[in-house]
Amino acid sequence: MNQPKIILGIESSCDETAAAVCLKDGNRVEILSNVVASSAALQAKYGGVIPESAAREQQKSIIPVIAEALDEAHLKPQDLDAIAVTYGPGLIGSLLIGVETAKALAIIWNKPLIPVNHLLGHFYANWIANQGNVSSIMHYEKEKKSKPLIHNAHPIPHFPFVGLLVSGGHTDLVLFYSHGKFKYLGGTRDDAAGECFDKCARLLGLPYPGGPNLSGLAEKGDPKTYQLPRPMLNSKDLDFSFSGLKTAVSNLKKSENSQQTADLCASIEDAITDVLIEKTVAAAQINNVDQIVIAGGVAANKILAKKLTQTPSEIIAHAGIYIPPVFLCTDNAAMIAAAAFFNNKTVNPLNLQADPNLSLS
Ligand code: KG4
Ligand code: ZN
Repeated sequence: MNQPKIILGIESSCDETAAAVCLKDGNRVEILSNVVASSAALQAKYGGVIPESAAREQQKSIIPVIAEALDEAHLKPQDLDAIAVTYGPGLIGSLLIGVETAKALAIIWNKPLIPVNHLLGHFYANWIANQGNVSSIMHYEKEKKSKPLIHNAHPIPHFPFVGLLVSGGHTDLVLFYSHGKFKYLGGTRDDAAGECFDKCARLLGLPYPGGPNLSGLAEKGDPKTYQLPRPMLNSKDLDFSFSGLKTAVSNLKKSENSQQTADLCASIEDAITDVLIEKTVAAAQINNVDQIVIAGGVAANKILAKKLTQTPSEIIAHAGIYIPPVFLCTDNAAMIAAAAFFNNKTVNPLNLQADPNLSLS
Protein backbone atom coordinates (compact mmCIF):
# COMPACT_ATOMS: atom_id res chain seq x y z
CA MET A 1 0.00 0.00 0.00
CA ASN A 2 1.22 3.54 -0.77
CA GLN A 3 1.33 5.87 2.22
CA PRO A 4 -2.37 6.50 2.95
CA LYS A 5 -3.52 10.13 2.73
CA ILE A 6 -7.15 9.75 3.79
CA ILE A 7 -8.24 7.23 6.44
CA LEU A 8 -11.64 6.35 7.86
CA GLY A 9 -11.18 5.54 11.56
CA ILE A 10 -13.65 3.41 13.52
CA GLU A 11 -13.74 3.14 17.33
CA SER A 12 -16.16 1.06 19.42
CA SER A 13 -14.22 -0.24 22.43
CA CYS A 14 -16.59 0.83 25.22
CA ASP A 15 -19.76 2.95 25.23
CA GLU A 16 -18.83 5.34 22.41
CA THR A 17 -19.47 4.53 18.75
CA ALA A 18 -17.20 6.75 16.71
CA ALA A 19 -16.11 7.28 13.11
CA ALA A 20 -13.83 9.95 11.72
CA VAL A 21 -12.24 10.82 8.41
CA CYS A 22 -8.73 12.21 8.69
CA LEU A 23 -6.15 13.50 6.28
CA LYS A 24 -2.36 13.34 6.65
CA ASP A 25 -0.31 16.33 5.61
CA GLY A 26 3.41 15.95 6.34
CA ASN A 27 3.72 14.67 9.89
CA ARG A 28 0.42 16.11 11.10
CA VAL A 29 -3.15 14.93 10.85
CA GLU A 30 -6.22 16.98 10.08
CA ILE A 31 -9.76 16.01 11.01
CA LEU A 32 -12.23 16.23 8.12
CA SER A 33 -15.06 14.79 10.20
CA ASN A 34 -15.32 13.39 13.71
CA VAL A 35 -18.60 11.79 14.79
CA VAL A 36 -19.16 10.30 18.26
CA ALA A 37 -22.40 8.68 19.44
CA SER A 38 -22.32 7.87 23.14
CA SER A 39 -24.59 5.65 25.21
CA ALA A 40 -23.16 7.24 28.39
CA ALA A 41 -26.53 8.81 29.26
CA LEU A 42 -28.17 5.36 29.08
CA GLN A 43 -25.30 3.75 31.06
CA ALA A 44 -25.64 6.52 33.69
CA LYS A 45 -29.01 5.02 34.69
CA TYR A 46 -27.15 1.89 35.87
CA GLY A 47 -24.27 3.85 37.44
CA GLY A 48 -21.72 2.30 35.07
CA VAL A 49 -21.34 0.54 31.73
CA ILE A 50 -23.43 -2.62 31.27
CA PRO A 51 -21.47 -4.45 28.54
CA GLU A 52 -24.50 -6.04 26.80
CA SER A 53 -26.34 -2.74 26.74
CA ALA A 54 -23.28 -0.88 25.38
CA ALA A 55 -22.89 -3.47 22.60
CA ARG A 56 -26.59 -3.23 21.64
CA GLU A 57 -26.24 0.57 21.35
CA GLN A 58 -23.05 0.16 19.29
CA GLN A 59 -24.95 -2.06 16.87
CA LYS A 60 -27.68 0.57 16.40
CA SER A 61 -25.23 3.43 15.88
CA ILE A 62 -22.32 2.06 13.88
CA ILE A 63 -23.66 2.35 10.32
CA PRO A 64 -25.32 5.79 10.78
CA VAL A 65 -22.16 7.11 12.49
CA ILE A 66 -19.89 5.94 9.64
CA ALA A 67 -22.32 7.32 7.03
CA GLU A 68 -22.37 10.68 8.84
CA ALA A 69 -18.57 10.80 9.04
CA LEU A 70 -18.26 10.33 5.27
CA ASP A 71 -21.06 12.79 4.65
CA GLU A 72 -19.54 15.51 6.87
CA ALA A 73 -16.18 15.06 5.15
CA HIS A 74 -17.93 15.39 1.75
CA LEU A 75 -16.27 12.15 0.69
CA LYS A 76 -17.36 8.87 -0.82
CA PRO A 77 -15.97 5.40 0.03
CA GLN A 78 -13.87 5.45 -3.15
CA ASP A 79 -11.99 8.53 -1.84
CA LEU A 80 -10.62 6.59 1.14
CA ASP A 81 -7.11 5.13 1.08
CA ALA A 82 -7.63 2.83 4.07
CA ILE A 83 -9.88 1.90 6.98
CA ALA A 84 -8.49 1.83 10.54
CA VAL A 85 -10.26 0.14 13.43
CA THR A 86 -9.72 -0.33 17.17
CA TYR A 87 -9.28 -4.08 17.71
CA GLY A 88 -8.59 -3.92 21.49
CA PRO A 89 -8.51 -3.56 24.40
CA GLY A 90 -12.10 -3.04 25.49
CA LEU A 91 -15.43 -4.78 25.99
CA ILE A 92 -15.62 -7.76 23.65
CA GLY A 93 -19.23 -7.14 22.59
CA SER A 94 -18.50 -3.50 21.78
CA LEU A 95 -15.20 -4.23 20.03
CA LEU A 96 -16.80 -6.86 17.80
CA ILE A 97 -19.27 -4.34 16.38
CA GLY A 98 -16.51 -2.03 15.13
CA VAL A 99 -14.13 -4.78 14.06
CA GLU A 100 -16.68 -6.83 12.11
CA THR A 101 -18.10 -3.70 10.45
CA ALA A 102 -14.62 -2.53 9.44
CA LYS A 103 -13.80 -5.99 8.05
CA ALA A 104 -17.00 -6.05 5.99
CA LEU A 105 -16.42 -2.52 4.64
CA ALA A 106 -12.77 -3.25 3.80
CA ILE A 107 -13.89 -6.25 1.72
CA ILE A 108 -16.88 -4.55 0.06
CA TRP A 109 -15.03 -1.31 -0.70
CA ASN A 110 -11.74 -3.09 -1.45
CA LYS A 111 -9.71 -0.99 1.02
CA PRO A 112 -6.64 -1.88 3.10
CA LEU A 113 -7.51 -2.52 6.75
CA ILE A 114 -5.26 -1.21 9.57
CA PRO A 115 -5.84 -2.59 13.09
CA VAL A 116 -5.12 -0.08 15.89
CA ASN A 117 -4.41 -0.67 19.59
CA HIS A 118 -6.85 1.68 21.37
CA LEU A 119 -4.21 2.60 23.98
CA LEU A 120 -1.70 3.63 21.32
CA GLY A 121 -4.52 5.48 19.57
CA HIS A 122 -5.04 7.75 22.58
CA PHE A 123 -1.47 9.11 22.27
CA TYR A 124 -2.04 10.05 18.61
CA ALA A 125 -4.71 12.59 19.57
CA ASN A 126 -1.57 14.72 20.04
CA TRP A 127 -0.71 14.52 16.33
CA ILE A 128 -3.98 16.13 15.30
CA ALA A 129 -3.25 19.64 14.14
CA ASN A 130 -6.68 21.22 13.97
CA GLN A 131 -7.45 20.95 17.67
CA GLY A 132 -9.44 24.15 17.75
CA ASN A 133 -12.80 24.70 16.19
CA VAL A 134 -13.50 21.62 14.10
CA SER A 135 -16.39 23.30 12.28
CA SER A 136 -13.94 25.86 10.89
CA ILE A 137 -11.98 23.23 8.97
CA MET A 138 -11.73 23.75 5.27
CA HIS A 139 -13.03 20.57 3.71
CA TYR A 140 -10.57 18.63 1.62
CA GLU A 141 -11.24 18.88 -2.08
CA LYS A 142 -9.09 17.09 -4.61
CA GLU A 143 -8.62 20.14 -6.86
CA LYS A 144 -7.32 22.22 -3.93
CA LYS A 145 -4.50 19.84 -3.06
CA SER A 146 -1.87 22.52 -3.63
CA LYS A 147 -3.32 24.77 -0.91
CA PRO A 148 -2.07 24.38 2.66
CA LEU A 149 -4.36 21.93 4.39
CA ILE A 150 -3.43 22.37 8.02
CA HIS A 151 -5.08 25.22 9.91
CA ASN A 152 -4.59 26.32 13.52
CA ALA A 153 -1.47 24.14 13.44
CA HIS A 154 -0.80 22.78 16.89
CA PRO A 155 2.72 21.70 17.89
CA ILE A 156 3.25 17.94 17.79
CA PRO A 157 5.49 15.86 20.07
CA HIS A 158 9.10 15.00 19.23
CA PHE A 159 10.73 11.67 19.90
CA PRO A 160 11.80 10.42 22.35
CA PHE A 161 8.98 11.22 24.77
CA VAL A 162 7.44 9.85 27.95
CA GLY A 163 3.77 9.07 27.45
CA LEU A 164 1.26 8.85 30.29
CA LEU A 165 -1.98 7.11 29.35
CA VAL A 166 -4.72 7.76 31.88
CA SER A 167 -8.13 6.36 31.02
CA GLY A 168 -11.02 4.49 32.60
CA GLY A 169 -9.27 1.15 32.28
CA HIS A 170 -5.57 2.00 32.04
CA THR A 171 -2.79 3.95 33.71
CA ASP A 172 0.46 3.35 31.83
CA LEU A 173 3.82 5.09 31.50
CA VAL A 174 5.56 4.39 28.21
CA LEU A 175 8.83 5.62 26.69
CA PHE A 176 8.40 6.18 22.94
CA TYR A 177 11.53 6.11 20.74
CA SER A 178 9.74 6.48 17.39
CA HIS A 179 6.41 5.57 15.82
CA GLY A 180 5.64 1.99 16.83
CA LYS A 181 8.84 1.62 18.90
CA PHE A 182 8.28 1.99 22.61
CA LYS A 183 9.18 0.58 26.02
CA TYR A 184 6.67 -0.01 28.82
CA LEU A 185 7.89 1.74 31.99
CA GLY A 186 5.16 1.02 34.51
CA GLY A 187 1.46 1.00 35.19
CA THR A 188 -1.23 0.49 37.75
CA ARG A 189 -1.22 -2.63 39.87
CA ASP A 190 -4.95 -2.39 40.57
CA ASP A 191 -7.43 0.38 39.66
CA ALA A 192 -6.79 2.81 36.82
CA ALA A 193 -6.77 6.56 37.55
CA GLY A 194 -10.09 7.06 35.71
CA GLU A 195 -11.55 4.07 37.54
CA CYS A 196 -10.50 5.66 40.86
CA PHE A 197 -12.22 8.92 39.87
CA ASP A 198 -15.33 6.94 38.85
CA LYS A 199 -15.42 4.72 41.95
CA CYS A 200 -14.88 7.65 44.35
CA ALA A 201 -17.60 9.60 42.52
CA ARG A 202 -19.94 6.66 42.94
CA LEU A 203 -19.17 6.48 46.68
CA LEU A 204 -20.17 10.16 46.86
CA GLY A 205 -23.40 9.48 44.98
CA LEU A 206 -22.34 11.40 41.86
CA PRO A 207 -23.67 10.32 38.47
CA TYR A 208 -21.73 8.31 35.86
CA PRO A 209 -19.26 9.15 34.33
CA GLY A 210 -17.79 10.10 37.67
CA GLY A 211 -14.50 11.71 36.62
CA PRO A 212 -15.83 14.90 35.00
CA ASN A 213 -18.61 15.22 37.61
CA LEU A 214 -16.21 14.85 40.54
CA SER A 215 -13.80 17.28 38.90
CA GLY A 216 -16.59 19.82 38.31
CA LEU A 217 -17.55 19.78 42.01
CA ALA A 218 -13.87 19.95 43.03
CA GLU A 219 -13.65 23.43 41.50
CA LYS A 220 -15.60 24.77 44.50
CA GLY A 221 -13.65 22.77 47.08
CA ASP A 222 -10.42 23.10 49.06
CA PRO A 223 -7.97 20.28 48.14
CA LYS A 224 -6.15 20.57 51.48
CA THR A 225 -9.23 19.68 53.59
CA TYR A 226 -8.80 15.89 53.66
CA GLN A 227 -5.40 14.23 54.04
CA LEU A 228 -5.87 11.32 51.64
CA PRO A 229 -3.20 8.72 50.89
CA ARG A 230 -0.99 9.04 47.80
CA PRO A 231 -0.33 5.31 47.24
CA MET A 232 3.14 4.36 45.98
CA LEU A 233 4.15 8.01 45.70
CA ASN A 234 7.60 7.23 47.06
CA SER A 235 8.06 3.74 45.65
CA LYS A 236 11.23 3.54 43.59
CA ASP A 237 9.44 2.16 40.51
CA LEU A 238 7.07 3.73 37.99
CA ASP A 239 4.02 1.72 39.04
CA PHE A 240 0.78 3.06 40.46
CA SER A 241 -1.91 1.84 42.86
CA PHE A 242 -5.23 3.60 43.37
CA SER A 243 -7.39 1.06 45.20
CA GLY A 244 -6.18 2.22 48.65
CA LEU A 245 -7.27 5.77 47.91
CA LYS A 246 -10.75 4.55 47.03
CA THR A 247 -10.84 2.52 50.28
CA ALA A 248 -9.74 5.58 52.29
CA VAL A 249 -12.59 7.58 50.75
CA SER A 250 -15.09 4.80 51.50
CA ASN A 251 -13.99 4.85 55.17
CA LEU A 252 -14.68 8.58 55.60
CA LYS A 253 -17.81 9.84 57.32
CA LYS A 254 -20.58 10.79 54.87
CA SER A 255 -20.40 14.47 53.84
CA GLU A 256 -23.00 16.55 55.65
CA ASN A 257 -23.30 19.38 53.17
CA SER A 258 -22.35 20.35 49.63
CA GLN A 259 -19.24 22.26 50.73
CA GLN A 260 -17.89 19.14 52.45
CA THR A 261 -18.57 17.13 49.29
CA ALA A 262 -16.77 19.72 47.17
CA ASP A 263 -13.82 19.70 49.59
CA LEU A 264 -13.66 15.91 49.43
CA CYS A 265 -13.83 15.97 45.60
CA ALA A 266 -10.98 18.50 45.49
CA SER A 267 -8.92 16.38 47.93
CA ILE A 268 -9.47 13.20 45.85
CA GLU A 269 -8.50 15.02 42.64
CA ASP A 270 -5.43 16.45 44.37
CA ALA A 271 -4.30 12.99 45.56
CA ILE A 272 -4.79 11.27 42.18
CA THR A 273 -3.08 14.04 40.20
CA ASP A 274 -0.17 14.27 42.69
CA VAL A 275 0.72 10.63 42.07
CA LEU A 276 0.28 10.86 38.29
CA ILE A 277 2.53 13.92 38.08
CA GLU A 278 5.22 12.64 40.46
CA LYS A 279 5.64 9.41 38.51
CA THR A 280 5.51 11.07 35.09
CA VAL A 281 8.17 13.61 36.02
CA ALA A 282 10.30 10.79 37.51
CA ALA A 283 9.93 8.83 34.25
CA ALA A 284 11.12 11.85 32.25
CA GLN A 285 14.06 12.43 34.62
CA ILE A 286 15.19 8.79 34.72
CA ASN A 287 15.10 8.57 30.93
CA ASN A 288 16.50 12.05 30.39
CA VAL A 289 13.60 13.01 28.13
CA ASP A 290 12.16 16.51 27.84
CA GLN A 291 8.95 15.66 25.98
CA ILE A 292 5.86 14.58 27.94
CA VAL A 293 2.69 13.42 26.21
CA ILE A 294 -0.53 12.88 28.17
CA ALA A 295 -3.46 10.95 26.72
CA GLY A 296 -6.76 9.29 27.63
CA GLY A 297 -9.98 10.44 29.27
CA VAL A 298 -8.32 11.67 32.48
CA ALA A 299 -6.06 13.93 30.38
CA ALA A 300 -9.21 16.09 30.15
CA ASN A 301 -8.73 16.90 33.84
CA LYS A 302 -7.82 20.58 34.13
CA ILE A 303 -6.03 20.24 37.47
CA LEU A 304 -3.73 17.55 36.06
CA ALA A 305 -2.64 19.89 33.26
CA LYS A 306 -2.33 22.92 35.56
CA LYS A 307 -0.31 21.14 38.24
CA LEU A 308 1.94 19.40 35.71
CA THR A 309 2.92 22.60 33.94
CA GLN A 310 3.54 24.31 37.31
CA THR A 311 5.62 21.51 38.84
CA PRO A 312 8.87 23.02 40.14
CA SER A 313 11.33 20.77 38.35
CA GLU A 314 14.25 21.49 36.04
CA ILE A 315 12.93 19.01 33.46
CA ILE A 316 9.42 20.51 33.47
CA ALA A 317 10.75 24.05 33.13
CA HIS A 318 12.22 23.10 29.74
CA ALA A 319 9.84 20.34 28.74
CA GLY A 320 7.43 20.21 25.84
CA ILE A 321 4.14 19.10 27.40
CA TYR A 322 1.38 17.87 25.09
CA ILE A 323 -2.22 17.34 26.19
CA PRO A 324 -5.07 17.02 23.68
CA PRO A 325 -8.16 19.22 23.90
CA VAL A 326 -11.03 17.63 25.84
CA PHE A 327 -12.92 16.37 22.77
CA LEU A 328 -9.85 14.35 21.73
CA CYS A 329 -9.00 13.05 25.24
CA THR A 330 -12.08 10.87 25.59
CA ASP A 331 -12.79 8.06 23.14
CA ASN A 332 -13.02 9.14 19.50
CA ALA A 333 -12.12 7.74 16.08
CA ALA A 334 -9.94 10.63 14.89
CA MET A 335 -7.16 9.41 17.20
CA ILE A 336 -7.54 5.91 15.72
CA ALA A 337 -7.18 7.21 12.16
CA ALA A 338 -4.23 9.38 13.29
CA ALA A 339 -2.44 6.38 14.83
CA ALA A 340 -3.00 4.39 11.63
CA PHE A 341 -1.17 6.96 9.48
CA PHE A 342 2.04 6.36 11.46
CA ASN A 343 1.55 2.64 12.20
CA ASN A 344 0.08 1.52 8.91
CA LYS A 345 0.65 -2.23 8.88
CA THR A 346 -2.35 -3.74 7.15
CA VAL A 347 -4.04 -7.05 7.83
CA ASN A 348 -6.14 -9.43 5.75
CA PRO A 349 -9.69 -8.59 6.92
CA LEU A 350 -10.52 -12.28 7.22
CA ASN A 351 -7.74 -12.71 9.80
CA LEU A 352 -8.51 -9.80 12.12
CA GLN A 353 -9.84 -10.76 15.57
CA ALA A 354 -10.93 -8.38 18.33
CA ASP A 355 -8.64 -8.71 21.36
CA PRO A 356 -10.26 -7.42 24.60
CA ASN A 357 -7.02 -7.89 26.59
CA LEU A 358 -4.57 -6.10 24.30
CA SER A 359 -2.04 -4.01 26.26
CA LEU A 360 1.06 -1.86 25.82
CA SER A 361 3.25 -3.96 28.11
O1 KG4 B 1 -10.26 7.28 27.51
P1 KG4 B 1 -11.66 7.21 27.98
O2 KG4 B 1 -12.69 8.07 27.31
O3 KG4 B 1 -12.20 5.76 27.94
C1 KG4 B 1 -11.39 4.65 28.19
O4 KG4 B 1 -10.67 4.22 27.26
O5 KG4 B 1 -11.40 4.23 29.38
O6 KG4 B 1 -11.58 7.55 29.55
C2 KG4 B 1 -12.71 7.56 30.34
C3 KG4 B 1 -12.28 7.92 31.76
C4 KG4 B 1 -13.41 7.78 32.77
O7 KG4 B 1 -12.91 7.10 33.91
C5 KG4 B 1 -13.77 9.22 33.09
O8 KG4 B 1 -14.30 9.39 34.38
C6 KG4 B 1 -12.41 9.90 32.96
O9 KG4 B 1 -11.85 9.30 31.81
N1 KG4 B 1 -12.51 11.36 32.77
C7 KG4 B 1 -12.06 12.26 33.68
C8 KG4 B 1 -12.37 13.54 33.15
N2 KG4 B 1 -12.99 13.37 31.94
C9 KG4 B 1 -13.05 12.03 31.73
N3 KG4 B 1 -11.46 12.09 34.87
C10 KG4 B 1 -11.13 13.20 35.55
N4 KG4 B 1 -11.39 14.45 35.13
C11 KG4 B 1 -12.01 14.68 33.95
N5 KG4 B 1 -12.26 15.92 33.53
ZN1 ZN C 1 -10.11 5.17 25.71
